[in-house]
Amino acid sequence: MHSAGQSPVWGRLNASKRSLSLVIRAAFLSVSEVPMNMTMLNNRYRYGAVAQAFHWLTAVLVIAAYALSPGGSEVQVYSLARDFTRQAHETLGLAVGVLTLLRLAWQTLNATPEDPPMPAVMRYAAKIVHIALYVLLLAVPLTAIVGAWLEGHPVTLLMIGDIAPPLRLAHGVGQTIATIHTYLGDAIVWLAGLHAAAGLFHHFFLHDHVLRSMLPKRD
Ligand code: HEM
Ligand code: HEM
Repeated sequence: MHSAGQSPVWGRLNASKRSLSLVIRAAFLSVSEVPMNMTMLNNRYRYGAVAQAFHWLTAVLVIAAYALSPGGSEVQVYSLARDFTRQAHETLGLAVGVLTLLRLAWQTLNATPEDPPMPAVMRYAAKIVHIALYVLLLAVPLTAIVGAWLEGHPVTLLMIGDIAPPLRLAHGVGQTIATIHTYLGDAIVWLAGLHAAAGLFHHFFLHDHVLRSMLPKRD
């Protein structure tokens, strides 16, 4: 009897694994050989144009979604009078979620620029804030969508239309999740404010390149 390592089936499996890995490597190399302007990608010192576009577009959309957030009771939120505000808020908020998924995918092709020398505690604090911002960028839209659906409301998007609830009605749970959404929506704006203040602190007090790494290069 063949041992697992010698069996012809195992050998064929190993061979297919090897060819699969070659195909993936070839695909990756051909993507990285695409004549792409290098400023599109991050380098050791700064974020590339694509990462910067994701960052600043996300910041604008988060602020706009927050500015247009529909407050009040469920009846008020879904009243005809709030129709436009709610739809604009949901469209902007959903765009944040979709952009974040695309941004995270783009990130896998990019190295994060190196930090300037700074105390370890500062480096870890920045890392934790960045991770928390990413978690919120996904959790804020997700809680809104799940909350609305469980409450029995469609997600209402400008120009795209309504997305009816695919989930079974569970109104109480939906209300709780929608309330969590409102707290998380506040939290992301506070945290982004703290993060922006840190960026300005680096620029104006520490005089390092952290803020410039997220700004277009001036020649
Ligand atoms: C970055 C994205 C988002 C931010 C920053 C955000 C922020 C907020 C905030 C702060 C509130 C509370 C407003 C108040 O009580 O005065 C709120 C409420 C609400 N948001 Fe969002 N939101 C975002 C995305 C979304 C998305 C994608 C939807 C889509 C379903 C949505 C639907 C709602 C609804 C329906 C309410 C009212 C909830 C209730 O009071 O029952 N939001 N949002
Ligand atoms: C809603 C607003 C904002 C959100 C959600 C946000 C989110 C983020 C995230 C997730 C990163 C990490 C990027 C990565 O390496 O993967 C980042 C980096 C950065 N952000 Fe923001 N940001 C916002 C607003 C701002 C503002 C207003 C400023 C400037 C005053 C700013 C300055 C920076 C800088 C300088 C970096 C690079 C930091 C480093 O590499 O250590 N951000 N931002």
